[in-house]
Amino acid sequence: MKNFLSVQDSLPVQSLIETALSYKAHPLKDHTLGKGKRIGLLFLNPSMRTRLSTQIAAQNLGMDALVFNVGQDGWALEFEEEAIMSGTTVEHVKEAAPILGNYFDVLGIRTFPSLKNKEEDYHELYINQFVKYCGIPVVSLESATVHPLQSLTDLITITETFREKRKPKIVLTWAPHVKALPQCVANSFSEWVIQWGQADFVIAHPEDYELNSRFTQGATITHNQEEALKDADFVYVKNWSTYTDYGRIYCNDPGWMLTLKKLESTRQAKVMHCLPVRRNVELSDEVLDSRHSLVTRQAANRVWAAQAVISEILKS
Ligand code: CP
Repeated sequence: MKNFLSVQDSLPVQSLIETALSYKAHPLKDHTLGKGKRIGLLFLNPSMRTRLSTQIAAQNLGMDALVFNVGQDGWALEFEEEAIMSGTTVEHVKEAAPILGNYFDVLGIRTFPSLKNKEEDYHELYINQFVKYCGIPVVSLESATVHPLQSLTDLITITETFREKRKPKIVLTWAPHVKALPQCVANSFSEWVIQWGQADFVIAHPEDYELNSRFTQGATITHNQEEALKDADFVYVKNWSTYTDYGRIYCNDPGWMLTLKKLESTRQAKVMHCLPVRRNVELSDEVLDSRHSLVTRQAANRVWAAQAVISEILKS
């Protein structure tokens, strides 16, 4: 594995899931693999789970992990080619990235979309400029359009909790939120489940919340949440803003919040969310505090996903 930017860098998915589960069983089995190597973790946006789990994963492999909160502590970066830097940006990625490439052996980067310019966001300018100029492997810690470490974690969690000899039914359902959020987690979860190929996969959302079809081809898509939830084994709850008329909130119908009542038609479904979650907006207390919820287990599994990815990069 050269870079880890999307599911395309992670095929076959099943093999990466198995590597992650082997680290969960034996966290220190490769504790010298990264000896003498350093990973830099750059955050242009806030994070709790990604930041801490990736540091722990690197340490389990014997690597040093250094965190740099670029958005908070660093110089404002410029990413556009041929920019005339007479505005607020202070340092160009053409200088910053190769410097980081000298300091580190692997670079993890978290960026976010603007949610203002669809073309720019979906071209992944920020992370691609780091890949272009840093000269070392890059791990996406979430980018403008996808969150692959989260999706790998989600499939690890589904694999270890589903024990039946049939395909699980997985439902990704939109939920209300107070802010316009990126499509990253939904895009990524969808493309990972489809590439994994071992589930019946349904996406439920209100009208106007269609995701980019590049990520959803192979899924059943419906605007009827009740119908989607029938016989579900896993329900993944996530808000996202509109894709077509980009970055907006059209419907914020509280009727889309997942409740215990709605889970009655499922097969005792397990409920998932990437976190952080807005309680009683996206998901009710009664669901989050019930035996249905996998959310903290999911977050704990972030370590094994990161460890599997970093180990694959170190090995290659
Ligand atoms: N799920 C997730 O990426 O969490 P953080 O934003 O806290 O890293």
